[in-house]
Amino acid sequence: QTLRLSVSQLEKGGYPHFMLKEIYEQPNTIFDCIRGRVVNNATEIKLSGVIDHSDRFINARRIIIVACGTSWHAALIGQRLLQDIARIPTSVEYASEFRYSNPVLTSDDIVIAISQSGETADTLAAIKLARENGAFVYGVCNVVGSSIARETDTGTYIHVGPEIGVASTKAFTGQVTVLAMLALAVAQLRGTISQEKLSEFSRSIEQLPSLIKETLKLNDAIEKLSSTYTYVRNFLYLGRGYNYPSALEGALKLKEISYIHAEGYPAAEMKHGPIALIDREMPTVVIAPSDELHEKIISNIQQVKARGGSVIAIVTRGDTTIPEIADHTLEIPPVPEALSPIIVSIPLQLLAYHIAVMKGCNVDMPRNLAKSVTVE
Ligand code: G6P
Repeated sequence: QTLRLSVSQLEKGGYPHFMLKEIYEQPNTIFDCIRGRVVNNATEIKLSGVIDHSDRFINARRIIIVACGTSWHAALIGQRLLQDIARIPTSVEYASEFRYSNPVLTSDDIVIAISQSGETADTLAAIKLARENGAFVYGVCNVVGSSIARETDTGTYIHVGPEIGVASTKAFTGQVTVLAMLALAVAQLRGTISQEKLSEFSRSIEQLPSLIKETLKLNDAIEKLSSTYTYVRNFLYLGRGYNYPSALEGALKLKEISYIHAEGYPAAEMKHGPIALIDREMPTVVIAPSDELHEKIISNIQQVKARGGSVIAIVTRGDTTIPEIADHTLEIPPVPEALSPIIVSIPLQLLAYHIAVMKGCNVDMPRNLAKSVTVE
């Protein structure tokens, strides 16, 4: 017997789409991303871009992160990480806005540019402007030798391998992982973290590949529940704290590949607008891991349910309250809050993927979108 496989099937490694292949690659890509960076038995973070320019990081007065699309969502998580762990005031800008905003920049500023492709025109223009104004520019790119990687002073590659699916998946989790390591490396330099905390955090980073692997087991359950939602026209995504950007990213993934309108919102803001839209026709994805704000997010779920809306909840394993009230519950393994967006993004990616496939959409090449946007 002969096995008949086309070149394209071979490239997809047996998966029906690049997107699914790339989602499933994440235990390995995150392993590659942290290799040689979490070192000495998880007591130290080694990023050469930080070591070689330690003065810049020690003296930095603020950090501005510029990016577009999914990379901008990673930037929002990076902002929290850098502020929380390295205690540097950090802001996030769309590269396309930053470049036309006449920004005030000094040589004590660090501008971080995040870009999977390293070719996004607006991000490239933003870093040229930043350098002209004396800022130190740090790149977080995937494509080695790309324009942004070359135009930055230094940086860290995410090393997740080529990403073919237009909707970014493994690059997003790689970006967040690099930003977590960057925050720790800078905190280590500036003395804003104890050795004990640093080691604890680093060990959690080392566990990410196995936690992702475990989370991927949700695939069948997500495929099953997705069939309920293919007719839907609008979706709301809610999250808080570190997972507010996850809500934005979950909504973007769904929009990009299924053409269902979706909006991400900080859960507490629901009462200031989106709650008016909720009815039987508008489901809500609630990112509700067991953290400080868990009680509050339970009340958001109750508010959605009271208006006839259905809820897909992402919870931490062991949660006994939310499964009682949500329509569908997806359990993730326990993970520190600051790293939870990496794990939470797995069910969000799978949900967007399965809904889009069931709708018959071209998930790898959605209409009107490009993998690399080199026009302004
Ligand atoms: C396009 C892609 C997105 C990506 C964005 C930024 O819109 O479709 O997936 O997030 O560009 O790309 P970059 O390569 O700079 O991360």
